[in-house]
Amino acid sequence: MRTKVKAHTNIALIKYWGKRDERLNLPAVGSISLTLDALWTETEIEFNVRFKTDRLILNGQPATEKELRRTSKFLDLLRQRAGLSSPALISSKNNFPPAAGFGSSASGFAALTVAAARALKLELSGRELSIFARQGSGSAARSIFGGFVEMHAGRLADGSDAFAEPIVPPDYWDVRLLIGVTSQVAKKVSSTAGMNLSKETSPYYQAWINAQPVDLKTMRRAIEQRDFEQIGQLAEHSCLKMHALALSSNPGILYWNGVTVEAMHSVRDLRASGTQAYFTIDAGPQIKALCLPEDEPKVRAMLESIPGIQQVISCAPGPAPQILEVE
Ligand code: PMV
Repeated sequence: MRTKVKAHTNIALIKYWGKRDERLNLPAVGSISLTLDALWTETEIEFNVRFKTDRLILNGQPATEKELRRTSKFLDLLRQRAGLSSPALISSKNNFPPAAGFGSSASGFAALTVAAARALKLELSGRELSIFARQGSGSAARSIFGGFVEMHAGRLADGSDAFAEPIVPPDYWDVRLLIGVTSQVAKKVSSTAGMNLSKETSPYYQAWINAQPVDLKTMRRAIEQRDFEQIGQLAEHSCLKMHALALSSNPGILYWNGVTVEAMHSVRDLRASGTQAYFTIDAGPQIKALCLPEDEPKVRAMLESIPGIQQVISCAPGPAPQILEVE
């Protein structure tokens, strides 16, 4: 009962911010993302009745108590479904630097879900895998698929309608996401803590929820029509709205540093000079620039010229999780 799986991380173009149920990790809004080829997690899992407890190795080091607890709790959901209670040995590694601004949670929980389901011989649909992955981390539900993906907020209390599904596959359209790393310092407010604070205190929270269905619908259509300008405009607007929620929470949450702000201006200056480039930023200080493949060298050069950008990582549309080994 051993399986090894590789899963890719994703970037949200229409952001998820806010939970409608914390216990089941149900999002308050839907979201749309692009799975990224260059950033992935490889996870190997073995269930064995002879193991005494779950053990978790992350990037070659034993995980912290907190990380192990979160993983065990998540695996219990799959063990319960399989009617088994065997402990597991999990070894997981990321190919991206911790400073890339991607918590490993999206690719990590997607890889863990697919690997554990396979090792436990569960025959699950993409939708079911996505529902399980969501309970590890909201963004992981989207990494169950490749290309452009939509996550549905759903309405049901049990979360059975809160799953992701593909919009178009990775080979439908080649676009690029360039990540400019501005800081190696871990963020002070986790996305869960930030979302909960925004829900409780931001005066704009309800307006954010109300506007999301139109953003989702417009983005879906723009992707289907390969309308890059529309996608870029919408992605930048969704990012700024999400950060407006964070900023308007009490106390306000500021995820950017000076370099992030400098880079936002530079992306807009480049756009004003005729290159289609748009920014998006998650719950951290890294800048992510969306562009077409032919403009990648120009956008990369622009990011690299900004003092304080430490590294630029280029990503193209990535695939769904792949099963690498089964024993
Ligand atoms: O589900 P989490 O904890 O990975 O939260 C994701 C939050 C954002 O990255 C800021 C937005 C998103 O939709 O990915």
